[in-house]
Amino acid sequence: METTEKAKLYVGGKEIELPVIVGTEGEKAIEMSQFRKQTGYVTLDRSLMNTAVCQSSITFVDGERGILRYRGYPVEELVKSNSFVDVAYLLVHGDLPTPEIKKDFSHLLNINSLMHEDMRHFFDRLPRGAHPMHILSTMINALAVFYPNVDQLSMDEDIKISTARLISTVRTMAAFAYKKSIGEPVVYPRIDLSYCANFLNMMFDSPVLPYRISEDAVRILNVLLILHADHEQNCSTTTVRTIGSAQVNLYATISAGISALSGPLHGGANQQVVEMLRTIEREGSIEKYFERVKNHNDPTKLMGFGHRVYKTFDPRAKIIKEECHKFLNKMNINDPLLEVAREVEKAALNDEYFVKRNLYPNVDFYSGIVYRALGIPENMFTVMFALARLPGWIAHWREMIGMETKIVRPRQIYVGKTIRHT
Ligand code: CMC
Repeated sequence: METTEKAKLYVGGKEIELPVIVGTEGEKAIEMSQFRKQTGYVTLDRSLMNTAVCQSSITFVDGERGILRYRGYPVEELVKSNSFVDVAYLLVHGDLPTPEIKKDFSHLLNINSLMHEDMRHFFDRLPRGAHPMHILSTMINALAVFYPNVDQLSMDEDIKISTARLISTVRTMAAFAYKKSIGEPVVYPRIDLSYCANFLNMMFDSPVLPYRISEDAVRILNVLLILHADHEQNCSTTTVRTIGSAQVNLYATISAGISALSGPLHGGANQQVVEMLRTIEREGSIEKYFERVKNHNDPTKLMGFGHRVYKTFDPRAKIIKEECHKFLNKMNINDPLLEVAREVEKAALNDEYFVKRNLYPNVDFYSGIVYRALGIPENMFTVMFALARLPGWIAHWREMIGMETKIVRPRQIYVGKTIRHT
């Protein structure tokens, strides 16, 4: 909403007035879109540290107070009383589903949970040992050749079906990729199972060793997926909005989001946290690891720590830490890496380097330990993140196409050679 407040700027010898926009939670922004027209100047904001790229009504994050809400609902409440499917609906459609609507939405997910049978053969041709995130982005991109084109010109009904197909088949693909990697027959989705139970069953059921679905495992998986379901303009979501702004097919757009998520500074961090904890355990010294982290000539980071937006505890990390402890206790699992993680956290929160820079555990710090307890292999941790983030990406894509957004096309400041001749 535009306010009566104006920002005044002296630039190029003249004073200009710029409109001030305020969000529903009181965040203020100076509207810069006409700035170059008015002054001939552009704004330079490396890595978009201080730029709002859109107005959005999906997710609210307050990094100073550690607040995260989807469509107004605090995540702390959603994990207590809702399933991942409820939250997926909420993100995509704006409100929690009524029981009737949920029934229809679940049905839509179920009937779209099968991957095109011909796509199964893709898995046979992909090299063993390929990272599951690369497999996933390849497979999602391939949906574009198996199913009708979906972009902003598509009918609502086609967008609705593609949304369900993406949310649902990504889970089937992830489980198929795992089964393929261990040389076991794939397990098809079952109509009688909930979203999370179905995933666990497709991952772990076998003709010779039937999988017993545990309610606790289903519950904690719901919690994890809900907490990863959206996080406003993170790198992968911004990728989705940016690519989507060129009117790219939805499947290709989501595939690009998955690629962005795979990076170790983004979703890929959850796998790296566990590798780091193992290194610390092997070396038997947190101090030694911290020395490398603090050395600016060494690229080592404390994985699962720090965040561009949160300058206090990431609320997701708080919940996952608590849930992780409860779940491991309940399952009688004694994972030595949980103890290492706790010690690393304690040491970092008492160390001036991390305190001075406001570095706290983020969503990735404890999630890997829960995935380990669920039996999910480490190279699939980021796939779990992608599976959870699907509704968020789709919600942002849908919001973006509904806004008549222009193609995203930033400027640059050229610093290369001035004209020269051959
Ligand atoms: N370990 C050590 N030092 C760090 C870390 C870390 N994890 N994070 C930030 N710093 C330091 C950084 O070196 C810099 O120090 P100095 O001021 O002396 O140069 C200072 O803190 C500010 O950091 P920054 O690099 O400007 O922060 P950023 O907002 O650009 O980066 C981040 C955010 C998440 C990429 C970064 O904190 C990081 O690399 N963390 C580790 C990877 C990770 O856990 N990623 C998951 C993020 S949450 C989930 C998601 O987005 O997918």
